[in-house]
Amino acid sequence: MSDIQEDRLLSGRTVLVAGATGGIGEGMTLALLRQGATVVATGRSEERLAGLADYVREAGQPGTLITRTVNVGDADSKKVRAQLSPHGALDGAVVSIGDWGSPERTGILDISDREWEEMIASNLTSHFHALRALTPLLSRKGALVHLSGFSADIPYPFAALVGATNAAKKSLVRSLDAELNSAGPRVYELIIGPIRTRPRAAIGADNPGWFSAEDLGRHAGRLIARSGPYADASLQYLITRAHGVRTTPPQ
Ligand SMILES: NC(=O)c1ccc[n+]([C@@H]2O[C@H](COP(=O)([O-])OP(=O)(O)OC[C@H]3O[C@@H](n4cnc5c(N)ncnc54)[C@H](OP(=O)(O)O)[C@@H]3O)[C@@H](O)[C@H]2O)c1
Repeated sequence: MSDIQEDRLLSGRTVLVAGATGGIGEGMTLALLRQGATVVATGRSEERLAGLADYVREAGQPGTLITRTVNVGDADSKKVRAQLSPHGALDGAVVSIGDWGSPERTGILDISDREWEEMIASNLTSHFHALRALTPLLSRKGALVHLSGFSADIPYPFAALVGATNAAKKSLVRSLDAELNSAGPRVYELIIGPIRTRPRAAIGADNPGWFSAEDLGRHAGRLIARSGPYADASLQYLITRAHGVRTTPPQ
């Protein structure tokens, strides 16, 4: 696709990015704005959203950014929907929320009940709430794009709770897709490897062989526009650039 076509791909469309203040979320927001979308960027911190607005303004892009301080992981889905309903039926929603829990790596046998409960709340229950709140906001022809890490599919020693919640998130999203049964909106589960983001680069974790957050945003934009070869693949793997986009896990 030429740069000009890419610039117009999402013009006239509204896409919500949940977790837009995160490393992946900000890169995806930028890419969607470059495709011409109106992006409703949500996060729980007004200050972090203001930082996002400064970042995308400096980068320059044809789309329009709207920031909203909304916690899509709130249990009160009706309240979340009421906060977002002024933006009308959404053409797309990207869910890029979550966290890695404690940076201390612990083996399963040493994980406390408290660590378990906290990780389930922050990295699984919040996603369930986000799916429940956001899916009804999408137009029937719209698309929801959800991200889970590759530990959904492979063992993740000393970070088992990250892996377990990724596997459960993947299952939730796959079930949602089956329940909607092609009646719309479309649902995509993207299983991702390590991603190039500004926060990761700032701590020295960077590799040109990884997809970037902006690569993910461009890809999500094409899925939302139902454009390109992967538009009908509800489960996709984006692990490394060398693997490319796949519909089955790379070996
Ligand atoms: N970066 C990678 O290489 C990589 C690889 C595989 C998987 N992932 C997964 O992809 C997702 C995004 O990654 P990232 O690197 O962008 O992470 P990040 O920089 O930590 O950003 C995550 C964003 O999610 C929001 N968030 C966190 N917990 C939340 C909750 N309970 N409810 C609502 N919002 C919440 C936060 O926004 P506010 O605090 O501003 O609301 C934060 O900005 C995560 O689930 C991560 O585990 C990332």
